[in-house]
Amino acid sequence: MVGSLTSEDKGDFEHFMLKEIFDGPEALRQTLRGKIRDNKIVFSELKLEVQAINKIFIAGCGTAYHAGLVGRKAIEELAGIPVEIDLASEFAYRTALWQAGDLLIVISQSGETADTLAALYKARKAGIPILAIVNVPDSTIARLADMVIYTQAGPEISIASTKVYLTQLLVLYLLALYFAQEKNALPPEELMACINAIATIDQYVEKALTQQPRIKEIASHYYHANNAFFLGRGYDYPVAMEGALKLKETSYVHAEAYAAGELKHGPIALLNGDVLVMALLSQDALLEKTLPNINEIKSRGATIIVVCKESLQEHCQEYENRIVIPDTNPLLAPLVAVIPLQLFAYYMAIFRGTEVDNPRHLTKAVTVE
Ligand code: AGP
Repeated sequence: MVGSLTSEDKGDFEHFMLKEIFDGPEALRQTLRGKIRDNKIVFSELKLEVQAINKIFIAGCGTAYHAGLVGRKAIEELAGIPVEIDLASEFAYRTALWQAGDLLIVISQSGETADTLAALYKARKAGIPILAIVNVPDSTIARLADMVIYTQAGPEISIASTKVYLTQLLVLYLLALYFAQEKNALPPEELMACINAIATIDQYVEKALTQQPRIKEIASHYYHANNAFFLGRGYDYPVAMEGALKLKETSYVHAEAYAAGELKHGPIALLNGDVLVMALLSQDALLEKTLPNINEIKSRGATIIVVCKESLQEHCQEYENRIVIPDTNPLLAPLVAVIPLQLFAYYMAIFRGTEVDNPRHLTKAVTVE
């Protein structure tokens, strides 16, 4: 059920989902508050000997899991700490080979998700410290975890999580940088460049939001589609997963995400003129590998929409359906690249006439396993 705020709370927006997408930059600013002091990342919430962390496990569901996938990459790349990540609903059914120095990070907007709680209990039973990244204050997960970092997104009413996803990503990037800082894992100038980039990321998200009319126009052409693929490599892959989830839950279009390189290993058989393909190109270093994948899709007759970083535009001229996102540090690109996907899901739902804030069969907090 959509939460208890009245329609006035939507301000000038027709739906909470659209308002919350546009709340993203402010949610990022609120979550960032107090976390960077004197050019250093500060986490007073953490009682951790960072040097002693052996391995990090991450568990979450849906959008929170997708944020965790980005977090894994960032923590491994920046801090050199090994990370394993599980869908919280599967974590119960596998043998976690815990060792001294392990840490579980659970991620949840509501703080009430039963599957994520089960992952927390499993770690607690094994005596593993638990850090929760949660949006709702005093929720069950927040109360039971040993440490809590709150995403400061404010209440999220629409069932499709948008602004909270951004803040989950932000906290995970900050954590990765904090771990790197405490372990001296990065050259100081590289660490500083990342901290500076993250401190201004809200401005890039604002800029990505200016693509709203273009995205609406593209959705108006393709809203009859029944099948969509979202493709990406590296950091673009978990963003593609999030884009596919947003589209299916809001507009009921069958959507799947594939790692761009995986397409030729089977899913390519599904391509024909009826399939919509959203291809992400935010990673300079992966352009050469991903472009041939997109060309291959084109030759199979599918409709392609390219979400492409400004400086890579010249390589995407042949794709008429182009959404341009601002250039950022490639590490932080997911924060910007997800914006067109959230807006696309919103407008697809609007044109298809679904109840966008309150899609069928879904609740804001899934409290059963
Ligand atoms: C997000 O758009 C979904 N509605 C859903 O996947 C959600 O992210 C998932 O159920 C996890 O919820 P939580 O963050 O409250 O734990």
